[in-house]
Amino acid sequence: MPAISASAPAKIILFGEHAVVYGHPAIAVPVTQVKAKAIITPAIGSPQGTINIDAPAINLEGPLKNLPFDNAIAKAIDLTLKKTQVAYPPAFNIKITSTIPVAAGLGSGAAVTVAIIQAVSGFVGQPLPNKTISNLAFEIEKIHHGTPSGIDNTVVTYAAPVYFIKAQPIEIFEVDTPFTIVIGDTGIPSSTAVAVADVRKSWRADPNKYYNLFDKCGKIAKKARQAIQKGDIENLGPLMDQNDKLLVEMGVSSDELGNLVIAARESGALGAKLSGGGQGGNIIALVHSDQAEHVANALREAGATNTIITQVGE
Ligand code: PMV
Repeated sequence: MPAISASAPAKIILFGEHAVVYGHPAIAVPVTQVKAKAIITPAIGSPQGTINIDAPAINLEGPLKNLPFDNAIAKAIDLTLKKTQVAYPPAFNIKITSTIPVAAGLGSGAAVTVAIIQAVSGFVGQPLPNKTISNLAFEIEKIHHGTPSGIDNTVVTYAAPVYFIKAQPIEIFEVDTPFTIVIGDTGIPSSTAVAVADVRKSWRADPNKYYNLFDKCGKIAKKARQAIQKGDIENLGPLMDQNDKLLVEMGVSSDELGNLVIAARESGALGAKLSGGGQGGNIIALVHSDQAEHVANALREAGATNTIITQVGE
């Protein structure tokens, strides 16, 4: 079997994180500037069924059979082989690399998983449809996140803007006029599982407050979709600001996130918000494309450890 490689992009959540876990709509888009990659080469001479993993970023090198069953990489390969009904594939080596910052709300875990599923299913001659890939990746997301909504695996698999409502058919949607987003990293690792669990605890303590917050986030996501589909980009900025305020009220922001959001706005962004689980990780800022470098510089001056400029809808 020939060598094969597959890659999957990072993602950002434009609107609706956390509320999406409770059934409200959210919008996520791919970020193609950074990606995860899986390269498979035949392990010529090794017995059938042998699988060797090389994932230098996480210091993982060696046979798959030595990994615990609940290891995310092992599980992704195992689920893919089960799905393709290939119990003993020709021996192969799989190298996994990623340029996506980890624990930053950019979907790095989902991207690694999707790249692995695409590469393994392609290698055994049975490339899987996106729906199946996304469903398998959702199973792995549960290892990373506990109770994920499914938005990360969906946007990363389809590599297109998605309007996502938990447990409903996915809606890929058109971007009328491409727009520019600057992503700024606080450099503080954030655990989505912890952030989601913290919100759940607060929601249990004060359900009315949180129902209200989630409901408002969902309404913003709905309006944002209409604005994006109409090319009404100026209106997105204030919607991002409103969504950020609700996330602050939810308790998932932090001083560092707040500082970057302010730095983005003060340097000319049309709107800014934290993106993803929060408590650390990234903020996103909507900018006029000719202002992108300027806002990115301002974010770095305000303490961002990394910035990425991306176009949505290109
Ligand atoms: O993976 P993150 O940090 O972008 O978070 C995903 C968004 C959440 O709504 C916080 C969780 C989820 O599963 O939808």
